[in-house]
Amino acid sequence: MEEAEVNKDSPVPLYYQIKEILKEKIESGVLEPNERLPSERDLQNKHGISRMTARRALTELESEGYAYREQGKGSYVEEPKLRQALSKLTSFTEDMRDRGLEPGAKVLSKELISVEDQLSDKLTLQSDEKVFLLRRVRFANNEPLAIETSYLRNKFCPGIEDFDFNDRSLYETLRTKFGINLGRAEQSVEANLASKFEADVLNIEKGSPMLTTERLTFLTDGGTPIELARSTYRGDRYKMMVELRR
Ligand code: GLP
Repeated sequence: MEEAEVNKDSPVPLYYQIKEILKEKIESGVLEPNERLPSERDLQNKHGISRMTARRALTELESEGYAYREQGKGSYVEEPKLRQALSKLTSFTEDMRDRGLEPGAKVLSKELISVEDQLSDKLTLQSDEKVFLLRRVRFANNEPLAIETSYLRNKFCPGIEDFDFNDRSLYETLRTKFGINLGRAEQSVEANLASKFEADVLNIEKGSPMLTTERLTFLTDGGTPIELARSTYRGDRYKMMVELRR
């Protein structure tokens, strides 16, 4: 393939042009996952640019999730982002298995609580109705990818608080232990930055880009909410896909 050149007369900054050249090579598969990227010095010599420019191109490639750095060794091509289809009501476990990855879960906390305000309205709780709160870190092949906080209406699954949810699917438990089938869900996605807590748990830098979803899931009658879940996914590892029809 003909090597793309930088254009020094272009108003597009040089670091950006280099980054785009590398991105194109990654996306087209010329550079494969875990392959070493050219070093700052390689880029400097090849394109006749400054060290600073080369560094910025590589740093931006990392922050966009295309590359990762190994201390003292250089930058490498990141595995492609996980594509999450937003049109199906699937569980984390199903999503990972579909991709041939081993799902995992580690419980951060679980308790029966009373909730008020917005959450209570969304779940249409009656007074005194308890909610089972489950907070987990989710893994794919042992890599921490997301933190999920689920609020479940306990009256539909009494005793759920006694299950050990480490490496156990919540949806499967609802179905097999409580006979609960899910009908549909409403979900929103928004961008935010990793808090100190999220960064520590997911082993990323504080302030890293994150995709946060809020899902309200209903029983098969379509109108009775059962779970409200807030999930925050690593923005460098996730891409959300939606199909649009006309
Ligand atoms: C998805 C949803 C959550 C749900 C979870 C269940 O990630 N965003 O709302 O709680 O799946 O996953 P699992 O059955 O693997 O525990």
